[in-house]
Amino acid sequence: MKILFLADVVGKSGRAALSKYLPLLKQEYQIDFVIVNGENSAHGKGITMRIYNAFKTYGVDCITLGNHAFSKREILDHLDECADLAYPNNHPLTPAHQGIRTYGFDGVKLHVVNVLGKSFMSPEPVVSPFELMDQFLSTISSEDMVFVDFHGETTAEKRAFFECYKQNCIAVVGTHTHVQTADEMVDEGCAFISDAGMVGPYQSVLGREIKQCIIMMKENVSLRYRVSEAEAMVCGVVITTDDTTHRAIAIERIQIRPGESL
Ligand code: FE2
Repeated sequence: MKILFLADVVGKSGRAALSKYLPLLKQEYQIDFVIVNGENSAHGKGITMRIYNAFKTYGVDCITLGNHAFSKREILDHLDECADLAYPNNHPLTPAHQGIRTYGFDGVKLHVVNVLGKSFMSPEPVVSPFELMDQFLSTISSEDMVFVDFHGETTAEKRAFFECYKQNCIAVVGTHTHVQTADEMVDEGCAFISDAGMVGPYQSVLGREIKQCIIMMKENVSLRYRVSEAEAMVCGVVITTDDTTHRAIAIERIQIRPGESL
């Protein structure tokens, strides 16, 4: 089985790149299941119903989120309609015991879990990602596949989480920093990368308009978030699992910059 994970889709140019490249990537890598982090897809913060539905028409199977999960509050009124929206269970606004999405493949379950890290994150999660994971694992079969999008700031926290749960998961993929790391690995049947990067404006500061960021940092002022309109890069990973053991056997990084082809 091949799972394509595309990292944080940022703003309009990120959404355009997703619609353009997703069909190409699915064909090139013979993908069986697509997970996309959409927590920055609506003007850099949150997701809307319109964008959720658009992602589904592009061919996304499951959409994960993060600290900006509910920045566009309208989505909170439509969670029942979003069967493929995996949102962080430890976010302060998440309805209790919801957010994890489960799919079936040849009699085996695949759970997509989105968790918030604790280090330097705002808002602070209501329970630690470790506590959340311990609770969740106690409710499922050890045969099930668990894919985790760990949305956090620090590489150390993500790596520690992977080391703690690698025997229970097929993948722990980091998101949130928008910078792809080169530490991908598979250990004990679990794939890992500290951060998968972003599908967002290449000429930007993590997706944000460059001039605005310089003013903010140089003059120590706070300005309303403005997403760069530059053409997007496409970052993510392809994870391969063994069809018999249902454990990860490979992880491959994807990074397509403007002007590059697959
Ligand atoms: Fe984030």
